[in-house]
Amino acid sequence: MKLLAVSDLHVAYEENRTITDGLRPESADDWLIVAGDVGETASDIEWALGLLRERFAKVIWVPGNHELWTPKDDPVQLRGVERYEYLVEMCRRLDVVTPEDDYPIWPGEGGPAVIAPLFLLYDYTFRPEGTSNKEEALAKAHAAGVVCTDEYFLHPDPYPSREAWCEARVELTEKRLSALPPELPTVLINHWPMVREPTRVMYYPEFAQWCGTVLTADWHLRFRSACSVYGHLHIPRTTHYDDVRFEEVSVGYPREWKKWGRTDGWLRQILPVKP
Ligand SMILES: [Fe+2]
Ligand SMILES: [Fe+2]
Repeated sequence: MKLLAVSDLHVAYEENRTITDGLRPESADDWLIVAGDVGETASDIEWALGLLRERFAKVIWVPGNHELWTPKDDPVQLRGVERYEYLVEMCRRLDVVTPEDDYPIWPGEGGPAVIAPLFLLYDYTFRPEGTSNKEEALAKAHAAGVVCTDEYFLHPDPYPSREAWCEARVELTEKRLSALPPELPTVLINHWPMVREPTRVMYYPEFAQWCGTVLTADWHLRFRSACSVYGHLHIPRTTHYDDVRFEEVSVGYPREWKKWGRTDGWLRQILPVKP
């Protein structure tokens, strides 16, 4: 029985759809974490999560920024919180665990551990050097020509801004994590990295402001994280911060995984810990 993870399937790309269609558990008891950016349209997201749920004993999903877009060609035109809630309802129908459900406890080797799917968003605090607020950070991104598409498609309604939505998510999530039994370790799952360090290797440092929040910088320590699982950066790798393992588990766009010569090994083992 293994806890496996993947993210950034981006199934709108035909070749990524083929990869998704090829994902299989090693045993019928395996669980799968899907850490966001499955796709953009409701039907693509439902196709992928439904397929994976048929194969894995449990599927745990968190939204990425792409799921939260309102694309012009999607018959589902819900925005912001309403769109998120629509996706949560879809997951309930599919029997997929979301950040709105009770956190499951991993019963296999490496446990017991609380598997905590989180939806925290970002708040423009991973700012580029030489900037001290959101306006300056955004201006620098515009000047560099590196502006995240979220600015046009990820609507925060009814919140006044994406950072206000982030702040609300952080507040309610912090309460839930604080109420967990203190003897249990956690696997924290969030589409965006919960510490800033992973963004330091990004080709465009201006893009980091769409990648997380400084509010969670010590959560891997405070909440006894055995592993912190994320995606979004499309830089798959394993790193350690404060001796805690962080796993970036993305597939990414075809041009990216082809460049790195990846053809398999899409699923990362989270638990039990590989020797
Ligand atoms: Fe992505
Ligand atoms: Fe993303």
